[in-house]
Amino acid sequence: MSIEASDLGVTIAGRRILDGVTLTCRPGQVIALVGPSGCGKTTLLNCLGLLQRLSAGTVLVDGHDAASDRARRRFWRREAAFIYQDYGLIEEETLAYNVTLRAPGLLRRPRPDARLDGILETVGLAGRQAETASVLSGGEKQRAGVARALYKEASYVFADEPTASLDPDNRRIVTGLLERAAKAGACVVIATHDDALASRADVVHSLASARA
Ligand SMILES: Nc1ncnc2c1ncn2[C@@H]1O[C@H](COP(=O)(O)OP(=O)(O)O)[C@@H](O)[C@H]1O
Ligand SMILES: [Mg+2]
Repeated sequence: MSIEASDLGVTIAGRRILDGVTLTCRPGQVIALVGPSGCGKTTLLNCLGLLQRLSAGTVLVDGHDAASDRARRRFWRREAAFIYQDYGLIEEETLAYNVTLRAPGLLRRPRPDARLDGILETVGLAGRQAETASVLSGGEKQRAGVARALYKEASYVFADEPTASLDPDNRRIVTGLLERAAKAGACVVIATHDDALASRADVVHSLASARA
């Protein structure tokens, strides 16, 4: 289980955003992509998550080139979870739906789900299954985003500035939860300019400022 980028390059409208990036993401590790704003952290994260096409180089998932649409969809459906700076929740849906992505039971009566209960407890949202995402605070929303990755038991977790909108307490909690996902065996890739978060990573990959 790994993601290997070799000599990865992205050029958009003639501008070189990424050039010659080589790195490996391994299970059990947190890898932080760091560098100044605009240096290409999000672009690289999206390349590693197979969301963005490369202009050069390769990204291998488990040693396989996952460039086909079928392979990419399979990767997203089964193996990957994405955590965004702006939480990426469906505001009008319940917390339970946002974490499990499973339609609510008949008559919207929540289905008993011990695993969901346990994960919500882990992220500090115990008993809040039926609440609508829109009523959660920013920190709670981001913890819900992490809960979704934990619930999915994703092999690969991609997080783009996951602590950027959070207060210090929630920053610490979310950092701890991402570490926990890695300890459980996931490969956790984080684009961040949060030094505290980056300092906890097993691998730090610095991107220089982009050049035309
Ligand atoms: N689809 C796109 N079209 C044009 N420019 C883009 C596109 N995506 C990213 N860029 C540019 O690439 C550079 C790197 O962006 P990004 O990966 O978002 O950096 P970071 O996440 O480090 O702030 C920026 O200058 C940005 O404007
Ligand atoms: Mg970014």
